[in-house]
Amino acid sequence: MGTWDRLTGMNATTNEDGPIVIKIGGSTLGEHDTSLRDCAELHREGRQVVIVHGGGAAVTDWQQRLGAEAAWVDGLRSTTPESLEVVVAVLAGLINKQLAQALQQLGAPAIGLSGVDGATLRSPISTRIGLVGESPTCDPSTLRTLLTAGLLPVLAPVGMADDCSTTLNINADTAAGAVAVALQAAALIYLTDVPQVLDAEGRGIGCLDAARQEQLTDAGVIAGGMLPKLRSGRAAQCAGSAVRIVDGTQPRVVRRVVDGAAIGTALS
Ligand SMILES: Nc1ncnc2c1ncn2[C@@H]1O[C@H](COP(=O)(O)OP(=O)(O)OP(=O)(O)O)[C@@H](O)[C@H]1O
Ligand SMILES: [Mg+2]
Repeated sequence: MGTWDRLTGMNATTNEDGPIVIKIGGSTLGEHDTSLRDCAELHREGRQVVIVHGGGAAVTDWQQRLGAEAAWVDGLRSTTPESLEVVVAVLAGLINKQLAQALQQLGAPAIGLSGVDGATLRSPISTRIGLVGESPTCDPSTLRTLLTAGLLPVLAPVGMADDCSTTLNINADTAAGAVAVALQAAALIYLTDVPQVLDAEGRGIGCLDAARQEQLTDAGVIAGGMLPKLRSGRAAQCAGSAVRIVDGTQPRVVRRVVDGAAIGTALS
């Protein structure tokens, strides 16, 4: 049975040999030690791994330290020119380098980059929430070059406008989905701070199909930070990746998912 089957319990095999894209949520940063260890281990075993990271809490923390307000629309950070400076500094600087350093310490040849580098992520500028790339596309050529060289790319969710006229804030989930689509990833794993996607009664959903996703979204049950995960995850699932949302605070969760454990929520 291939990775796709093991990760979803389903029978498609389209992207089986592709890389594994792992989105590390900012809300689990600081408790990510075993996830990074798992990523380093998978890389050592010869798997191609791409990490896309968030860092929303750190951005908000730095905005507060600088006396700026954080504002949210549908789970996406509304971004003024001033807040964009903080986003770029914290995500593409601090968090990206901390992750690369931690992976290097674990023996993985991590290369930190942002979506600006190699024009990896470009998007139209949002018309409603400022300097945000709401619908990014990924040019996978730089990531492929790094993967082919045996490196482990760590991508910060900062990109550019389509005409390269400005940097843009991109939601990390949305970025991870675009990367998975472009790389034809075997799997896309979102590490977050809840064990599963929950239904209206607060019960965990093991397997979420498109119709139920739409229904729960329309009913407002899927909201906030879960919206960009499921929107971008659905796009990746349609493009042939196995997609799972799992609790990144649990030990060895990446290892267990890749080894076929039916944990978290799978998109079907
Ligand atoms: N139906 C749902 N089931 C589970 N969680 C949900 C649901 N709807 C909304 N959420 C919220 O989504 C949150 C996860 O997204 P959030 O953006 O906060 O974290 P993250 O993406 O892991 O981290 P970061 O945004 O910092 O990178 C959960 O903590 C929960 O509050
Ligand atoms: Mg989030």
